[in-house]
Amino acid sequence: MSPGSGADGGAVGDPVRKPVRITVEASGETFEQRGDDTVLRAALRAGVGVPYECNAGGCGSCRIQVVDGAVDDLWPEAPGRSERDRRAGKLLACQARASTDAVVRVRPSSEYVGDRPPVRRTARVVSVEAVTHDMRRLVLQTDDPADFLPGQYVSLFLPGVGAPRNYSMANLANADGQWELIVRRVPAGAATGVLFDSFAVGDSCAIDGPYGLATLRADAPRDIVCVAGGSGLAPMLSITRGAHAAGLLRDRRLSFFYGARTPADVCGGAELASLVAEGADVSFHPVVSTPATDHGQPWEGATGYVHEAAVAAFAGRTADVEWYCAGPPPMTQALQSALVLDHGVPVGQIHFDRFF
Ligand SMILES: Cc1cc2nc3c(=O)[nH]c(=O)nc-3n(C[C@H](O)[C@H](O)[C@H](O)COP(=O)(O)OP(=O)(O)OC[C@H]3O[C@@H](n4cnc5c(N)ncnc54)[C@H](O)[C@@H]3O)c2cc1C
Ligand code: FES
Repeated sequence: MSPGSGADGGAVGDPVRKPVRITVEASGETFEQRGDDTVLRAALRAGVGVPYECNAGGCGSCRIQVVDGAVDDLWPEAPGRSERDRRAGKLLACQARASTDAVVRVRPSSEYVGDRPPVRRTARVVSVEAVTHDMRRLVLQTDDPADFLPGQYVSLFLPGVGAPRNYSMANLANADGQWELIVRRVPAGAATGVLFDSFAVGDSCAIDGPYGLATLRADAPRDIVCVAGGSGLAPMLSITRGAHAAGLLRDRRLSFFYGARTPADVCGGAELASLVAEGADVSFHPVVSTPATDHGQPWEGATGYVHEAAVAAFAGRTADVEWYCAGPPPMTQALQSALVLDHGVPVGQIHFDRFF
């Protein structure tokens, strides 16, 4: 398999496309958009904090209005762009690419600028192993160090897949250049089809990152709750590992809730057990939504929805802990609204990534 292709199927950093300059109308900040970057990737690379969350067209946080110039809409049907946005001519910066110099209306904020600007690199697969029947761990290797915060993600540009897909790191930043990803197969999914059916040790692709704002808040003085659904395991493991590495789990407790559909889908316990063996105060709470299966594995643990189990376990003290969550959008949204609307948890204490 060859090094990765871009959002349009062209080569990463396509030299044919000439760089264009984008100006933010109100502040006058300008940045260059090169190769096959979207407006969002170019802005964040240049340290201009265009608001975003998913970098995948799902959340709608990155709306911009084009004031001048030609900007192409790469995914007109993106679910994050509402009918109202369409009527108002608003675009999603993560699905927009300027073809001329342009002026855009958006309100950048420094909170969206990471202290590690995203970089595009080539990565080689160095290990692939099964986590469950439909989840696998992939370790990618880059020549330079893997520099990211616990909870962040990278975009993979896979050959034959029309647009990049995001995957969160499960490990911690390291000088060896290793990026550990946990990928769940999506039925008929374009990227996961490649990652499961044709990607093997020795193959390479382009990766771009780190991105993401749902990172470990080491300075928050509270106990920690991680809630993971499916492949949301990856960033929640990174948060847990980061908290342990920072020494937070010597005097703070981390409760890790893992939501699985069936008993055969439960995973993450072994990784957490190894942190407990090193002295981390971590407890693991798997919750299964469909306990009766054909797999023959009896389930005597908790059943139901993982976000409900997590909230119930902290009844009366939901605002005393720092909440981290990753996984399917319905799960993360249900947890967020239960915490904020029903329990009055301050939004600044909830950090989540929705896996659109
Ligand atoms: C922040 C974030 C972190 C994530 N982390 C993980 C993780 O750690 N592990 C994991 O397994 N999954 C993760 N995901 C989900 C992952 O990015 C993919 O959506 C998932 O693997 C399915 O991809 P697919 O190509 O197989 O499925 P498909 O159904 O082929 O594609 C689904 C996704 O591709 C994108 N897409 C589809 N069509 C277009 C288009 N025309 N233009 C642009 N984009 C398009 C959309 O984002 C859509 O949700 C994460 C998602 C996000 C947003
Ligand atoms: S960041 Fe663009 S839609 Fe989510």
